[in-house]
Parts: sequence; structure tokens; C-alpha cells
Amino acid sequence: MLHRIERLNAIGTALSAETDTPRLLEIILLGAKELTGADGGSLYILAGRALNFELIHTTSLGLHMGGTSGRPVTFPPIPLDLADGAPNLHNVVTTAINEQRLVNVPDAYQDQRFDFSGTRAFDQRTGYRSQSFLSVPMQDHEGKIIGALQLLNAIDPATGRVIPFSSEDEGLVASLASQAAIALTRKRLIDGLKELLQALIRLIANAIDDKSPHTGGHCRRVPAITMALARAVNADDGPRFGTVHFTEQEMEELEMAAWLHDCGKITTPEFVVDKHTKLETIFDRIHLVDARIEILRRDLEIAGLKARLAAAGSAPAQPGDDSGGGADQQRLDEQQEFLRRCNVGGFFVDNQAREQLAAIAGQRIRLAGGEELPLLTENELYNLSVARGTLTDEERQIINNHSDASLRMLETLPFPDYLRRVPEIAGGHHERMDGKGYPRGVPAGQLSLQSRILAIADIFEALTASDRVYRKPNTLSETLTIMARMCREGHIDRELLTLLIDSEAYLDYARQLLRPEQLDTVDRARILAILD
Ligand SMILES: [Fe+2]
Ligand SMILES: [Fe+2]
Repeated sequence: MLHRIERLNAIGTALSAETDTPRLLEIILLGAKELTGADGGSLYILAGRALNFELIHTTSLGLHMGGTSGRPVTFPPIPLDLADGAPNLHNVVTTAINEQRLVNVPDAYQDQRFDFSGTRAFDQRTGYRSQSFLSVPMQDHEGKIIGALQLLNAIDPATGRVIPFSSEDEGLVASLASQAAIALTRKRLIDGLKELLQALIRLIANAIDDKSPHTGGHCRRVPAITMALARAVNADDGPRFGTVHFTEQEMEELEMAAWLHDCGKITTPEFVVDKHTKLETIFDRIHLVDARIEILRRDLEIAGLKARLAAAGSAPAQPGDDSGGGADQQRLDEQQEFLRRCNVGGFFVDNQAREQLAAIAGQRIRLAGGEELPLLTENELYNLSVARGTLTDEERQIINNHSDASLRMLETLPFPDYLRRVPEIAGGHHERMDGKGYPRGVPAGQLSLQSRILAIADIFEALTASDRVYRKPNTLSETLTIMARMCREGHIDRELLTLLIDSEAYLDYARQLLRPEQLDTVDRARILAILD
């Protein structure tokens, strides 16, 4: 008995260490068989009002289905209720569940309590003889039944004959079943929390993607190319990455960082993330400027009409008379057209244009109460004077802050130990090899390999994305050529980019997520030559 208790303890220890469900099921069933000397056994998990066969093991028949066997169990689930809704008490295992108790049948062929017709049919087909049964419900820490263990044919080690399960067997299996239930429930709770965390991460990523329709799927697609490159690192046996191998947990950590890398954008105002024109704030202020020009135009018209009225008393209007302000009206039209052009990000505002803007801005509008306003406010003039693109330096800074915001937000989360580097990896996706990146601006030596992978994935996605309105998507060779140049300028990791190009790790991603016309032939030698 002492030996069996020691075995029970050893099995309990193995149960608490195991994190893989199929292996957990094997430890439970094989442990129960070993403790009782049973020839066969089944493990069932409760799903609604039915028991699913999860694992079947019969030593003498060489039968092994479910668990780690790689062969699915082909038997149908067993309903706990009969057709009329009454609890099924004809079957040993359903009785153990329905009555929440252990059921011990010394000899099925002598038993009158249960219907063993199915068992007999099985025996007839296989030549087996199913004799002694022991069914035990598995109850978790809250007393909830999660499944059952059923053992078949206890074998007397001395004679090799089938004997009934003893009361000692009952105690040992009951104890094992309760430990097993707790281990399975714990695994379920952990899996449930992991799934919830994954769903929450995707929810945040999708919310950020939805903020800007023009960079739509970025947060969703970056993880795909990140993991493709990480797998290429694992597969590579060259001098640089031959000794690097990301474990399963490190891959999980990297994928989570990829999903969350732009999470800081949640704090970036929408009009900055998606600023189409220079005067756009919450709305595009060009319409305000248009309205002010309209005031000037009408003032001119009124002045002209007043002059005509006054002149009508003395002399008739002459041809070519400009008292309606025709020349001034034309000047206003030209100014309005110029302002509209300056408002577009693609228009380059040089020094001359900037002077012209300042001159236009200084024009005064007189309101009804006599108050005067400039045609453009200081802030409007400042925004329209942006040389390239739509963003002012301050707004560019706000955008750049997102990786710092990602880092700070993620640092507040209590990541479990194996995910502790998520903030560092995610927060480093805009760092550069030459130390000119942001937010930390640290040189290559201080950047983890994972954050360099993510930086490459981030750029690859942005260059190949087809949802940017301001340009057409690059083909694969255009993308890799641009990236090779960026690499030469110190942006990204040379060895990782070489690996990406050499391994063609981008191909599956490209086939699934890019347009067919983007998949051109990549001249690897030519692009790699840019790197030298
Ligand atoms: Fe970013
Ligand atoms: Fe990004």
C-alpha cells in the first residue's frame, strides 16, 4: 500500500507540472491504470449533458485512442439522460456522474443493475471479456463534475486473472480523480485567461486600425510578417542566427509585442493620425477661410455698388468702369485658389509661397460691429506654411510619441515572467541601428533581436500596404529595394534584412495579403548588392 501511495504522490506531482492537455489526460488515465493494475480504462469529459470519450487505453488489445495517440476516439458521446429526460442509470459511467458517486461492478456478466449489452457486443467483436468495472466521477475544487474515469478488468499480478476492484483501489482512484479534476480545471482556467488576453489584444489592435482607414490593417498584418521572419531566424543555421532559437514562449512574447506595437496610437488624436490637409483639425478649416474670403468679396461688391449709386446722380457709368471691383475680385479668386493648393499635403510650400501666404494672411476683414479680423489666424498661417505633408513639427512629434506611449502603457501591465519583454520589444519598433530612432534613440547594441525583427516587419507592412490613399502599393522588389537603401542608411538590421531576402520568408505573407500585381520577381542578387 505504501508503494501505491508513493506512486499516487508521484502522479500528483506530474499532474501539477504538466501544461499540455493531451499529456495531462495520459498521465491521469495511465496513472489510474497503474495504481489499480487495470487492463483498460477510459477518460470522459463532460460537455453539456453528454460524456465525450477523450482517451481510451486497453493494454491487452493494444488499443490507444485520443490523448497523445494521434488517433481520434471514434465512439460517440454518451448522453447522461434517457430519451424521456430521466437520468440514465443503466450505464455504469453515467450512473457515476448522475449519482455523483463511485460505481464498482465486480463482474459485468453477473450484474443485474446495468445494461451491458453494448459491452457484450464489443466483447463478441473483439474476443475480449469485459469483467470488472470501476467508474469514478472527477470533481473539481468547487465540487463541479467535469468528467469521469472508468477502469476495466483489474488484474491479479500473481495469477494474471481478472479480479474485482478492491476498496483500496476505490480510495486511490477517488483521490487521483480529484487531483486530476483540479489539474484539468486549472489548465482550463489558464487557457481561458490566455484566450481572453488574446482577444483583448486583438480588440485593441483592431480599434487602432479602425482609427485610420488609410492604414487599416496595419496592426493586424504586422504580426504575420514578424512571425514569418522569426521562424526564418529559427530555421537558419548560418553563422549569425545558427545559435539563435526562439522558444515557444519567446515566440508568444514576440507575437504579442507585434500585436501591441502601435497601441500607443490609442492616445494619438484622430485628426493627427489621419490629417488629410494642413488646416484640418476636427474639421477642415479651409471652409472657414472660404467664408472669410466671401465676406471680403461681398464688401468689395457693396463698395462698388455704393460707388455706382453715388455716381448715378451725376453721370452714367462708362465702359471699363471698375467700380464693381473686378480686378480686386479676380485677385481674391487667385488668393483663394492659392490657399486651397497650399492646404494639400502634396503641394510643396517654398520660401516664396510662404511669403505669399503671409501677405494674404494679413488682409483684414471688417465685421458688422466694426471689429477687424485677419484673413488667416496665426495658427492657420502656421499650418498652411508646412513645407511638405500636412503635419506641423508638433504634430509629427505627437505621432512619433506613439512608440513611447506604447512603451509606457505596456510597462504598466503586470505581464507574467515569460512575457516580460513585451514592452521593450513593442516600444522599440521605431528605433534605428544608428541610434537615430525614437523614443530612446539607442544604438544597435542596445536593441533586442526581437525589436529589430519587429522594426523590419513594421516597415515591410507599411511599404506593401495597399490601403494608403496617397500612393500605390509597392511591389515586392520595390519594397525590398527601399528597405535595402534604408538599411544602408542605418535604419534597420542588415543581417535580418539579408535573411528576409535570402529565405523569402515574406512569400507566404505576400501570397495571402498582397495584390497579385505586387508579387513581381525579386532579383535577390541585385537587392543584396545594395547592402554592400
Ligand atoms: Fe509605429
Ligand atoms: Fe506600426
